[in-house]
Amino acid sequence: MYICVHACPSADTSDEDSISAAVQAVSKLIGAGGLNLLINNAAINQPASPAPLSATRKNDMMDVYETNVVGPFLIAKMFLPLLQRSAEREKNKGDEMSCSRSAIINISTIISSIEKCPETFPIAQMYSYRTSKAALNMLTRCLAEDFKIHNILVAAIHPGWVRTDMGGEQAPLTTQDSVLGMLSVMSSLSNKDCGMLVDWQGNTIPW
Ligand SMILES: NC(=O)c1ccc[n+]([C@@H]2O[C@H](COP(=O)([O-])OP(=O)(O)OC[C@H]3O[C@@H](n4cnc5c(N)ncnc54)[C@H](OP(=O)(O)O)[C@@H]3O)[C@@H](O)[C@H]2O)c1
Repeated sequence: MYICVHACPSADTSDEDSISAAVQAVSKLIGAGGLNLLINNAAINQPASPAPLSATRKNDMMDVYETNVVGPFLIAKMFLPLLQRSAEREKNKGDEMSCSRSAIINISTIISSIEKCPETFPIAQMYSYRTSKAALNMLTRCLAEDFKIHNILVAAIHPGWVRTDMGGEQAPLTTQDSVLGMLSVMSSLSNKDCGMLVDWQGNTIPW
């Protein structure tokens, strides 16, 4: 079953008590079937783009790291038993991992890519945001290794530049196009994508 923790109105993804309450609520909803897809979407970007060095304070670095990295870390750790329940029920279907069996998708960004930094840096420096998402990529890779044994797929997806509060009005993509693209990509993920960063069209993004 698919549940969006983000949809729990009071959930604060960087607060352990709040996540614990969400785990209880989701557990009641899904019953014995377990949770097959967990999407870590919540994130912040401060100060606002382009966020050059001079405008970025220590608090920005700390707050953004807490929400964008510690939050997904805690959520993965605390939802693991529910994901395992789903993976366990599907284990007689072979070794192939997929989002319909049990998966964590971390919403990352192309500007997390260290290799692409020379291309993306001049447009938006965004020190706190891009370093936090690079750390989220490493978290994705670590969880992918760790959870292989449970047959849980872990991958990161860049949603494109999307017209949201964060993306702004200049962004070329509507939320609908981005979400439809990501859903299509998610439905095709398998073992080979475990621990990878891909975009909303399925292209692999280099670390
Ligand atoms: N938009 C883009 O162009 C773009 C590009 C690349 C990657 N992304 C990624 O895509 C994801 C979605 O971004 P978006 O564009 O939809 O951003 P957004 O418009 O700023 O929305 C972010 C959402 O995250 C929630 N949130 C923030 N901190 C939270 C916390 N501690 N606990 C619970 N919820 C929290 C916010 O809730 P409140 O409103 O209640 O604060 C808000 O609903 C993010 O991971 C972002 O980094 C976006």
